[in-house]
Amino acid sequence: MRSTFLVAAAFGLLADICRAAPSVSVVSNTQLDPKGIFFVSFDGVVNVNSFQESAVLAFQNFQFAAWYTSTGTAVLGRRTLPSGAWSTLQLPHNISTSDSHNVISLGVSPADGKIHVALDCHSTQMFYTSSEANLATSGNSWVASRFAAITTTLGNLNIGTVITYPQFVVTPNNLLQFVFRSGVSGDGATQLAEYSAGTWTNVGSWASATGTYTAPSGVTSTLRNLYIHGFSYHGTRAYVSGTWREQNGAVSCSSLGLTNHDTVYFYSDDMGRTWFNNAGAQIGTSGTNPVSVNTAGIIVDSLDADHALMNQESQTVDSTGQLHIIISYVPGRFTQCVSNYETVRPEFARPFHLYRSASGVWTKVEIPFFVQSVGRSQIVMDSQDNVYVIMPFVRVVTASKASGWTDWTSVYNGTTTLLQAFGEVTLDRARVSSGLVSVLYQQNSTGTTPSPVHLIDFSLNGS
Ligand SMILES: *[C@@H]1O[C@H](CO)[C@@H](O)[C@H](O)[C@H]1NC(C)=O
Ligand SMILES: *[C@@H]1O[C@H](CO)[C@@H](O)[C@H](O)[C@H]1NC(C)=O
Ligand SMILES: *[C@@H]1O[C@H](CO)[C@@H](O)[C@H](O)[C@H]1NC(C)=O
Repeated sequence: MRSTFLVAAAFGLLADICRAAPSVSVVSNTQLDPKGIFFVSFDGVVNVNSFQESAVLAFQNFQFAAWYTSTGTAVLGRRTLPSGAWSTLQLPHNISTSDSHNVISLGVSPADGKIHVALDCHSTQMFYTSSEANLATSGNSWVASRFAAITTTLGNLNIGTVITYPQFVVTPNNLLQFVFRSGVSGDGATQLAEYSAGTWTNVGSWASATGTYTAPSGVTSTLRNLYIHGFSYHGTRAYVSGTWREQNGAVSCSSLGLTNHDTVYFYSDDMGRTWFNNAGAQIGTSGTNPVSVNTAGIIVDSLDADHALMNQESQTVDSTGQLHIIISYVPGRFTQCVSNYETVRPEFARPFHLYRSASGVWTKVEIPFFVQSVGRSQIVMDSQDNVYVIMPFVRVVTASKASGWTDWTSVYNGTTTLLQAFGEVTLDRARVSSGLVSVLYQQNSTGTTPSPVHLIDFSLNGS
């Protein structure tokens, strides 16, 4: 009796161990700059934003990072992976205004090994440069003279003068793409350009400002923009998820709310030319027939504009080709009308794990920790499809695939380890396949007093 019980208990323990939520461990925490530029605008800091693709980017043997130093000058860093010392260079460009949108984003075009840099825009002209060929792999001296003169075009391509959210994405056939918004918040289009054989070409807009949204109150809005949680390739498929931001503030119950509503999903199997909804029906063509708020079959989680649903969190694709998204908002049990997103989100917002199964059904699980911030969270998965969410202040919570992503556990808490991170983080998605995630954060400060910019490396589940 007793021994049977012990054996059963032992098996139970073993099962618990096998099912345990995945862990992380800190490999290193490196100060990249003791004096990064600091100011808070739009609830954020300019060196660390969720939507940066990428502020820190691994490519083969090297990792690159970008930030503004205290003088406002754009700095690029490079180290040899996994743990070489960082070298820095200063680009001949200073941030033009104290706006946290005006981030620096990095990309590498695999075919020619050039490093591309897009920066310093918020519904304005964008600044851009690219390096000499193969600088991403050559290890040549890390000096600014290896980069071309800064332009307000995307190399040879004129993309206009009302640009925000520059993001670089590598396609499965090793081309570099560039995703950005033209137009403004509440009246903007998401756009795609492509770099091939040294030349940028325009693919066109794939999500438009047009159409009519009717709030539950009956109020309508006729202009908006799509905010994306990512533009991610897996196999030959490009996956997009996002939320709409309406121009008409009256669609929200409060003028201090957010007019973001609904989570949408659609995909492309031809590198962003034609688009399909959750049921696999063709719904759009880039350039001529972009997706809009009235496109059928793209809402995968409905939510009105009364819950401070956040825009531009993050997404990733699992090994079976299914999309996983992090969204966050204030659940209805706390209030049915967020009166002021800047005060109510830090108090009541929760992150949710929203994911698709092969049948097209979406599951949403509330992660049992408060966001504790206006800011956003980053999701990554390891090779076993375990989920890691890096929440504001570098708090890492995880769930195992074995549990069906239900055993949410806090495995690292940057609040209790006194990192003093400002809030939101951004990370190196290209490095995750090597079992490590590099997370960029900046220390909180006051006013415009510069503060340290850090990169903390975690290994995922003992890898
Ligand atoms: C950037 O600002 C620094 C410090 O104020 C200044 O010395 C430098 O000339 C500026 N660079 C550019 C490109 O304007
Ligand atoms: C991290 O620590 C803070 C401060 O003790 C606590 O409020 C929070 O619940 C902890 N964990 C997470 C995941 O937020
Ligand atoms: C950052 O520090 C300031 C000044 O101490 C404080 O008021 C603010 O709440 C802090 N921000 C965060 C996100 O902790």
